[in-house]
Amino acid sequence: MNEQRILIVGATSAIAEATARLFAAQGHSLYLLARNRERLESLAADLRVRGAARVFHAPFEANDFAAHAGLLEQVKADLGGLDRVLVAHGTLGDQKACEQSVELTLQELNTNALSVIALLTLLANHFEAQRHGCIAVIGSVAGDRGRQSNYVYGTAKGALAIFLQGLRNRLSKSHVQVLTIKPGFVDTPMTAAFPKGPLWASPEKIAADIERAIGGKRNQLYTPFFWWPIMAIIKSVPEAIFKRLSL
Ligand SMILES: NC(=O)c1ccc[n+]([C@@H]2O[C@H](COP(=O)([O-])OP(=O)(O)OC[C@H]3O[C@@H](n4cnc5c(N)ncnc54)[C@H](OP(=O)(O)O)[C@@H]3O)[C@@H](O)[C@H]2O)c1
Repeated sequence: MNEQRILIVGATSAIAEATARLFAAQGHSLYLLARNRERLESLAADLRVRGAARVFHAPFEANDFAAHAGLLEQVKADLGGLDRVLVAHGTLGDQKACEQSVELTLQELNTNALSVIALLTLLANHFEAQRHGCIAVIGSVAGDRGRQSNYVYGTAKGALAIFLQGLRNRLSKSHVQVLTIKPGFVDTPMTAAFPKGPLWASPEKIAADIERAIGGKRNQLYTPFFWWPIMAIIKSVPEAIFKRLSL
């Protein structure tokens, strides 16, 4: 495959790291954005060893909205263009704590939805003018239906899914792929405290699915695949019944 110039936002996420390793092995050029400088540097060194053509990195705080535009210009200048972007940053906030705090709730929505929407607003214009490329964003199955255990996080991921739908509709005539990635349960630092079971997947499994879907024609990726039928069933339960369930 031709060398692609790929931006990874939230590059130190376990899922993003595993995906970046696959991109590196294919000889692509990578730009890593994340807030932990030390981890960024060691990830960049690792990706160079694994075969990436070029690796750049810069510190990134998702909620510093004012810095986004300048960072994206820097990314395009250093890479000499931009073919693909994977947005991966996120937090799984404490739902119970959010219920007691407007501030925490808004912080979760900022990090998981508004910061991504802000970035995509800038990136969409780049890809629309360029008339090719791929915008891939990690959402979640949690965005498919509101549940009492995580509806603040779910609201953010659901908002992203709708925003991406609209963007896809806008950019389809510019031949830009807009991919909504919906993982189920993934064993990463984000879910370290959760008991694991048969529905859980590794970041490497999710990364392999993401790598296959990016650059193709897919619009939406449930990963692993079995989350598509699971969520189809969950979405089909009538609200009158669903509201009584402890989910
Ligand atoms: N794990 C799951 O079960 C699961 C399921 C569905 C969807 N997802 C989604 O998958 C994506 C990747 O998550 P993961 O599972 O790989 O978890 P992870 O390893 O904990 O990664 C989350 C990443 O987000 C970054 N981040 C958080 N807040 C940030 C901020 N304000 N500014 C910049 N970066 C910030 C973290 O940076 P620091 O390391 O500096 O904190 C970290 O690199 C997320 O969008 C998550 O919502 C995960």
